[in-house]
Amino acid sequence: MTELARPGLDALAGRIQARVGLDLGVYKDKCLRRRIAVRMRACNVHTLDAYVALLDREPAEFDRLLDALTINVTSFFRNPETWRCLAAHLLPDLLTAREGRLRAWSAGCASGEEPYTIAMLVAGVLERLERGAWLSRLRVDATDVDRRSLERARAARYPRRAFSEADPAVVARWCLPEGEDELVVRPELRALVAVGTHDLSQAQPAPGTFDLICCRNVIIYFDREVQERLMHRFADALLPGGVLVLGKVESILGPARERYELLGAARADLPEGRLMAVEILVRVADFRVLAGEGLLVTLGLGSCVAVMLHDREAKVGGLAHILLPSRSLGRGADNPGRFPQTAIPATVEAMAGLGADRRRLTARLVGGASMFQALAPAGSIQMGDRNVIATREVLTGLAIPVVGELVGGGQGRSVWFDVAGGRVLVRSVGQDDTTL
Ligand SMILES: C[S@@+](CC[C@H](N)C(=O)[O-])C[C@H]1O[C@@H](n2cnc3c(N)ncnc32)[C@H](O)[C@@H]1O
Repeated sequence: MTELARPGLDALAGRIQARVGLDLGVYKDKCLRRRIAVRMRACNVHTLDAYVALLDREPAEFDRLLDALTINVTSFFRNPETWRCLAAHLLPDLLTAREGRLRAWSAGCASGEEPYTIAMLVAGVLERLERGAWLSRLRVDATDVDRRSLERARAARYPRRAFSEADPAVVARWCLPEGEDELVVRPELRALVAVGTHDLSQAQPAPGTFDLICCRNVIIYFDREVQERLMHRFADALLPGGVLVLGKVESILGPARERYELLGAARADLPEGRLMAVEILVRVADFRVLAGEGLLVTLGLGSCVAVMLHDREAKVGGLAHILLPSRSLGRGADNPGRFPQTAIPATVEAMAGLGADRRRLTARLVGGASMFQALAPAGSIQMGDRNVIATREVLTGLAIPVVGELVGGGQGRSVWFDVAGGRVLVRSVGQDDTTL
């Protein structure tokens, strides 16, 4: 590979920043060098100085270099197992809980195949739920740093090969033929997708905005510091119970991991022995309180435990969705809402603020499933069991009686806590509903 000297690279980065505002400093050095070298070879240029001069002369090569640096490979329903998992386990609950008002973000959307995939998927789930009319409540933000990709996303016109992983019936439902070999996404679906510029390394999304963030095959190009910062930003940008979907070879690094739970639900669709090769689905642990009428809902409970605290007389409820810190990370302080020792007292405190009496509180527990049984050494105590044990210990210490529970097993669950009536409805994948 051509050796690229630092001063020349810095000059090139300066040109790019000045012309299109893209900061190359956030990308992994090795990736950048490899891609620039590829473009230089393609142009038959042997020094960086000569290449920078060529970029100044030929705008088309400048665009090709930007394409190479930002890598915008994508397709409809790319990695179908991820979408199957979302459609089967998470979206139905999320859409029901939000009555269709789902706000999704495809961050690093390239030419738009991913955000339109999200819209098609939601449409399919709503049809299954017999709530087709809710589709107009969906909004998908589609952002990227590459303006040319965004133009393609706005045009929403694609060659047929972009749909090779999509279900033909879904394509026929949501796309119209255009010329010989192209399809255009129907206007009613396009109206749900807002395309715009957003540089993930710079801009901070508004906190508490999204139910679902898909950021796939993007962070892998960033250096570690930028990746860690971004994971915190995503956690801030998600609503409580929101879901983050990363690409197949991506994972959350550093202390930001404490702010998410790994769902790993896609494993069910994969052949045995490939459990670690799943795309990663995670959600934020949190606690919430409510007085009077209303529901507290938490979705995607795997090995986590949901604790529902209730003061029947004052009609005040609290729900904490908690899990223990990962062993490798110790007791991170980034998300006190995550741990039984901190989240339960914090929930009690917040309930007292709404008029609940600590002496009247009762607790119900749901969750603690063995989601990663196949990966655990034989005879070892499961993560789900550890979460249940730790939660019970904290409740005993606070003298809060447990009046109902549904824990253990191997299924993901969701919980719907009716605060006024004090009932807890538990939905388990593939099983009948249970009321506690
Ligand atoms: C490989 S594509 C991924 C497309 C889609 N998410 C998928 O998985 O099919 C990577 C995208 O990330 C975008 N990207 C790279 N750096 C970015 C940044 N700093 N901010 C926003 N998007 C960026 C690129 O422009 C490119 O469109």
